[in-house]
Amino acid sequence: MKIETKAIHAGNHPDETTGAVVQPISLASTFERAEDGSYPKGFKYSRASNPNRTSLEECVCSLEGGAVAAAFSSGSAAAMSIFQALNTGDHVIVPSDMYHGITTMLKGIYSHWNLQVTYADMQNLDEVRKAFQPNTRALIIESPSNPMMKISDIQALAEITHSHQAMVVCDNTFATPILQNPFLLGADLVFHSSTKYLGGHSDVIGGIVVSKNDDEFFQRIREVQQIGGAVPSPFDCFLTLRGIRTLAIRMKVHSENAMQVAQFLHHHPKVEKVYYPGLPDDEGHELAKKQMKTFGGMLSFLVKGDEREAMKTIARCQLFTRATSLGSVESLIEHRASIEGPATHTPHNLIRLSIGIEHADDLIADLKQALS
Ligand SMILES: Cc1ncc(COP(=O)(O)O)c(C=O)c1O
Repeated sequence: MKIETKAIHAGNHPDETTGAVVQPISLASTFERAEDGSYPKGFKYSRASNPNRTSLEECVCSLEGGAVAAAFSSGSAAAMSIFQALNTGDHVIVPSDMYHGITTMLKGIYSHWNLQVTYADMQNLDEVRKAFQPNTRALIIESPSNPMMKISDIQALAEITHSHQAMVVCDNTFATPILQNPFLLGADLVFHSSTKYLGGHSDVIGGIVVSKNDDEFFQRIREVQQIGGAVPSPFDCFLTLRGIRTLAIRMKVHSENAMQVAQFLHHHPKVEKVYYPGLPDDEGHELAKKQMKTFGGMLSFLVKGDEREAMKTIARCQLFTRATSLGSVESLIEHRASIEGPATHTPHNLIRLSIGIEHADDLIADLKQALS
């Protein structure tokens, strides 16, 4: 079955009692036991599992081509479950330009946990090779990366990582399974901030981990989910699943629009540089062409000038909404360095765009007047 069809049908269970075509939202926190003490429908207590959460997990698992999935109350909680499933003293290699929230998590919370972390430039395979230690358990990839849009060679990184008996974890938030299938390239675990493209409408926070195999490591993640309890509500699951139904068609329009906007910015005299893997002269273009179906809806660019110039450009936008986050139907514009805080490595004249599914002409017209 093709992924577009799976996005609509996987995990959707029409209601057995009423025949409702869309699965109802099961708000119950607890489920009745039979006289013999069993749970005939398989549900016991909603922290442990819930019909809407199970449906969401089935759906994303099917899209990614994994064996099992665990949904969380945010993308950060999903990432956190992976680190919590490790042993103390384990070592992980993470991208030096990883999404700043996860870097903050590792430098803050995990600095008390004896988790050893090496930051590496994932585009430099020699640097990555040198980062391995006998206790390395995992290498994390984020491709395209946030906000520099760097492309990592998932297949090459997986080969190196597996030669050290470690696992490859891929943050597939920017690409989504519609554009990139990390398991086919050698990844062992995939996670998402489903707040972004999966949900797709800026109205739900969520995360999900998918595992290629139902193995012991995934069972630890399941334990973190069910016992730790950072789980999405049934309504959150319903909304995310509803978003996923249109994911394939949204990703197509996000990508087409972003390509047009990138080309417009590329030729604009007030723009110093555009970071979009769809542009033929982008550093990651050839690799992105190999491992992604299209290039996605995210792009960043440098305005000529300093932070003030970037801020003025953002302030002049009328159609783009000034807000953090990404992956929704409406276009967002953001000054990334000020969101990331004083430790940021992001250039201060960088503007990040999350290109929505409005008409590209309107988006370009808004940027044109903002840059004038
Ligand atoms: C690439 C990436 N991964 C993970 C996260 C964390 O997700 P959440 O905000 O849902 O906790 C984000 C959030 O922006 C992100 O952009």
